[in-house]
Amino acid sequence: MAAKVDVILGAQWGDEGKGKVVDVVAPEYAVIARFQGGPNAGHTLIFDGKKHVLHTIPSGVFRPGVWNLVGNGVVIDPVIFMGEVKGLEAAGVDVRPKLLISRRAHLILPTHRALDAASEADKGAGKIGSTLKGIGPTYMDKTGRNGLRVGDIERPDFIQRYRALVAKHERLFALHEHKPEWQSKEAEWLAAVEALKAFNLVDSEQWLHDQLNAGHAVMAEGAQGTLLDIDFGTYPFVTSSNTISAGACTGLGVGPSRIGKVIGIFKAYSTRVGSGPFPTELHDATGEAIRKAGNEFGSTTGRPRRCGWLDLPALRFAVMVNGVTELAMMKADVLSGMDTVRVCTGYRIGGQVHAGFPFELADELEPVYADLKGWGELKADKPLPPEMEAYITFIEQAVGVPVRIVSVGPDRAATLVRMSAVAS
Ligand code: GDP
Ligand code: IMO
Ligand code: MG
Repeated sequence: MAAKVDVILGAQWGDEGKGKVVDVVAPEYAVIARFQGGPNAGHTLIFDGKKHVLHTIPSGVFRPGVWNLVGNGVVIDPVIFMGEVKGLEAAGVDVRPKLLISRRAHLILPTHRALDAASEADKGAGKIGSTLKGIGPTYMDKTGRNGLRVGDIERPDFIQRYRALVAKHERLFALHEHKPEWQSKEAEWLAAVEALKAFNLVDSEQWLHDQLNAGHAVMAEGAQGTLLDIDFGTYPFVTSSNTISAGACTGLGVGPSRIGKVIGIFKAYSTRVGSGPFPTELHDATGEAIRKAGNEFGSTTGRPRRCGWLDLPALRFAVMVNGVTELAMMKADVLSGMDTVRVCTGYRIGGQVHAGFPFELADELEPVYADLKGWGELKADKPLPPEMEAYITFIEQAVGVPVRIVSVGPDRAATLVRMSAVAS
């Protein structure tokens, strides 16, 4: 019987701990496939006392016997990609034989990164807070039908195509006040493109279906999070791809009927890095304490992450638009020792309380909170304390799906699988 594609995706504003969960479950799958985003992602894996941060390469790469596929929906910066490969090889991981790259994935050029920087600088105070990896301009060229794809590097006229796109970008710089330098990056980029040719470049949609038809299970690994989705996130403070489960279909070439479980990853609280609305954000000592205890600094940019309480209207919205079948709750240990933990249950807008997630998170929107009893220390080899169970049950009842995985520390081993009373 044909196997299914399960999906792991972020249910908040990114950095939920997707990389950790993918690494934990990877041995159950034949293939781990990234379906969107690019090096704006930073997925952290910790095991055997070592930390690894992945940007483009799927988080199954440390597990023996697992294929890792960079899907067509991903955008690739060859320089960053080669840096990741070298880092993994230095760590003793023979990544090349188990890595495949879709020919349909788009390439991030040095000029895309410069355009990203120019656009952000021109926006001034209204900037998105982009990671400046060239994500927006690359997806713009994809949808504008100007982009260069991985498969193009095998064409004899690749360099002419590259020059034509750069010439187009040079015309665009004229529209920007800021014109960042990119020329010094070109030689390294072209060398990385050459190096990319030695990788397993494939028609990944066919390869993936061959795997499924042979009964090999696939895990689709998302980047960013639902509230950064180009359609359903807090636009315009979003990324430029579909981070939701539908993105796994377009980003890998599989139909909805092939999707199995959809696992939404969320933190026991909320974080956001970059600009944009964040109703439950804490600007006080509690927010600072969460940032410190949770080491909430960006894996890609090192920027401090904004911290706040768990937002149930937002999580319910994520469950809805993704068709989440089960949840994984991360970083509950970070809140250990607090007397009271707050959860946002609704938004007060113009005197009325709403449980839904509106078109716009306007400034006058006010979160309504429930106060729950805090918990003590959490250990993976001990049952969860009753206060933690009560917190999880409260969430499950609010969003209607079970929390099956609970993560109580950054290490691979600090993970529990929980029996839930709520059906998938
Ligand atoms: P991703 O982008 O969704 O893969 O998440 P990131 O790797 O950017 O950020 C998650 C951070 O939290 C990383 O530093 C992880 O090592 C860490 N982390 C993951 N799960 C847990 C957990 O349960 N407890 C704690 N304390 N840290 C965790
Ligand atoms: P992972 O996969 C958290 C945010 C940026 C910015 C906005 C747009 O590690 O969860 P972009 O570079 O895409 O133009 O930035 O999206 N952002 C992320 N925030 N985690 C990420 O990835 C992110 N990728 C982008 O901070 O606000
Ligand atoms: Mg991250």
